[in-house]
Amino acid sequence: MGNQALEKSFNEIIEGNKGWVDFVSKDETGRFQQLAKGQSPEILWIGCADSRVPANEITGRKPGEVFVHRNIANMCVHSDMSMLSVLDYAVNVLKIKHIIVAGHYGCGGVAASLSRKQFGIIDNWLCHIKDVYRLHAKDIDAIKDEEERVDRLVELNVKEQVFNLCTTSIVQNAWKNGQDLAVHGMVINIGTGELVDQHCTFDSNHDLDNVFAYQ
Ligand code: CO
Repeated sequence: MGNQALEKSFNEIIEGNKGWVDFVSKDETGRFQQLAKGQSPEILWIGCADSRVPANEITGRKPGEVFVHRNIANMCVHSDMSMLSVLDYAVNVLKIKHIIVAGHYGCGGVAASLSRKQFGIIDNWLCHIKDVYRLHAKDIDAIKDEEERVDRLVELNVKEQVFNLCTTSIVQNAWKNGQDLAVHGMVINIGTGELVDQHCTFDSNHDLDNVFAYQ
């Protein structure tokens, strides 16, 4: 590598791994040998790509306990093959029991979606959040403070993404087959670390409008 500053920070990553290797080698429970053979997590976490919201640390879970998908603003877009592939594997192969859609207050993606600026290719992704705004424009526009507007949309967006997950054929069929599966919406307060339940949990399609509840 010709760039010394980059080489230095890259070496810090390698050094960081040595600490982890040391930790794993001292573990006497045998769990890492077990993990090397396979995984059986009970949680699927769909969170924001933001570096401040690590799924395992926030939920107090060890490696092997959380299956994770992250993107800008924790979106569950019906036709996103990456999200759908993760969801299918999590539900149908790993048989996970809880899906957590986790937003976070102060989300940059959500804030960008409330502005009129263009940011480039991401504008097409942010449009999915603008769609959520359109459903709740009255609620959001009643709030004057800019940060509060963002945080309210963060909460509403999480609920909407939970709903989007519930309407996928993957989740619908899991319920139809009697699988225990709950979909939760939560919002992280980065400053306090708290995971705030948005009380929008679904564990069946009974509360969905008829057109969304396959027979
Ligand atoms: Co974010």
